[in-house]
Amino acid sequence: MTESADTATTPPLPVRTADWWREAVIYQVYPRSFADANGDGMGDLPGVRSRLPYLRDLGVDAVWLSPFYASPQADAGYDVADYRVVDPMFGDLDDAVALMAEAHRHGLRIIVDLVPNHCSDQHEWFQRALREGPHSRLRERFHFRDGKGNQGQEPPNDWESIFGGPAWTRTKNPDGTPGQWYLHLFAAEQPDFNWDHPAVRDEFASILRFWLDLGVDGFRIDVAHGMVKAEGLPDLGSLEQTKLLGANASPSFDQDGVHEIYRSWHTILKEYDGQRIGVAEAWAPTLARTANYVRPDELHQAFNFQYLATSWQAGALRTVIDETLDAMREVGAPATWVLSNHDVTRHTTRFANPPGLGTQIRTPGDPELGLRRARAATLLMLALPGSAYVYQGEELGLPDVTDLPDEARQDPAYFRAAGQDGFRDGCRVPIPWTVDGPSYGFGTGGSWLPQPATWAGLSVKAQSGQDGSTLEMYRTALAVRRSHPALGAADNLRWLDSAGDVLIFERTSGAATFTCTVNLTGAAITLPVPGRPLLASAPVQVTAEQAVLPPDTAAWWTTG
Ligand code: NOJ
Repeated sequence: MTESADTATTPPLPVRTADWWREAVIYQVYPRSFADANGDGMGDLPGVRSRLPYLRDLGVDAVWLSPFYASPQADAGYDVADYRVVDPMFGDLDDAVALMAEAHRHGLRIIVDLVPNHCSDQHEWFQRALREGPHSRLRERFHFRDGKGNQGQEPPNDWESIFGGPAWTRTKNPDGTPGQWYLHLFAAEQPDFNWDHPAVRDEFASILRFWLDLGVDGFRIDVAHGMVKAEGLPDLGSLEQTKLLGANASPSFDQDGVHEIYRSWHTILKEYDGQRIGVAEAWAPTLARTANYVRPDELHQAFNFQYLATSWQAGALRTVIDETLDAMREVGAPATWVLSNHDVTRHTTRFANPPGLGTQIRTPGDPELGLRRARAATLLMLALPGSAYVYQGEELGLPDVTDLPDEARQDPAYFRAAGQDGFRDGCRVPIPWTVDGPSYGFGTGGSWLPQPATWAGLSVKAQSGQDGSTLEMYRTALAVRRSHPALGAADNLRWLDSAGDVLIFERTSGAATFTCTVNLTGAAITLPVPGRPLLASAPVQVTAEQAVLPPDTAAWWTTG
């Protein structure tokens, strides 16, 4: 099944700043929903390539592409059938290489998704393991077990899938009788690999090299905390079932043994020039545990999901920011801030709803309030020390689509949890580029999920050049972030006193000081002017001494 890679490889980007990832802004492209070049209603790699100038002009440093590998799409490509093949719905390997080469010409790095915890049930190894029956050596590469009960009719342990229902599915023997069970922490179509098996480790080292040789600048590692399970797969018993952002230790996630894998991958990444990186999607229970993934000999970044899950409240935000900076300082790693991705309700809609609803929300809340807060939250995030991720469409202020018809939904979590959970389709709706056309410029055909009519006004075309639009705010913020000497990676954040639901901090480099002021209250506040205004998320009135910040507004200032 492996496609031949006679395609020319692309040279790495020259390294201009040492450790570029420490302050990079990385834009997540969800390929299905970014741009559709062939008009089939589904985004593709040539579509992404055609929009690279947009990303360059937006001012990001790198692009992370969610999976585009051969896959039956049971979990939107996070069920990989062949790690070295591009799924025809996205293009082919030549398209991937051409995309990397062109991105590099624009000064953009490309990070690809790597899915090592599980594969697709259509992966050749798993299919052989099923075919060859209980004694197949291939079964050792997964977690196959006999069931409990006198007929083996009960799952081998009490773990539940993150998508709902048992984490085990029973197989049929080649003769049709009920057979062993296999473990899948996600959908049944995503069997977990057994990372104690050397063939699994060797295969992934080879997959890393395959993509590194083709020129990728790094990997976002899916479920980076999942590959190693507690010895013997013990029952949870009275422990709470594992949630992605649960506060408890779990036998299925964040086991110490996983770090050995990252130490070996660190060595592989280092063999290549151009500072290639690894980014952990590790939903560890604490920031200190998250920091373990970015120790100097492991990966480079780890998404800060604790920050993502924090509500719009000054005290809570200040605490999580401090805890993050402390935890990352311990290991000498940058903080990696993120507000949205393809798995959570977009932050515009999260902030439109009351706090405490989690990251899967089905109500639109107050969209105007949500957008106001989202814009302020962006200026807060981009002012913090370290790196930041931007999820496609957040620069347009897109809300989640909370009223998708049930028949349009594709998220496996929605089906496994009988419609009670799994609202991830709402953040995956294709983004609008133009004010008209069949899918607002997403492509010449339709769009695999319906786009709301109101998105015409939120399109790139509608917002470009419009003073005060969310898109122009992002463009300015990213340009300021690149040029202000006190911003970026430096660990120089100092809080200034403030009363109530207000955050004020400054960052200094030499004679230059940058100040960020955030009013999280629902009323305007008056502050002494901290310097020359640079940018604000809503119009701020400034006199010689005083600045009036409207409700839910952030502003950037500079001196020197
Ligand atoms: C995390 C990915 O971001 C998500 O989309 C996917 O469903 C799970 N991992 C399983 O691969």
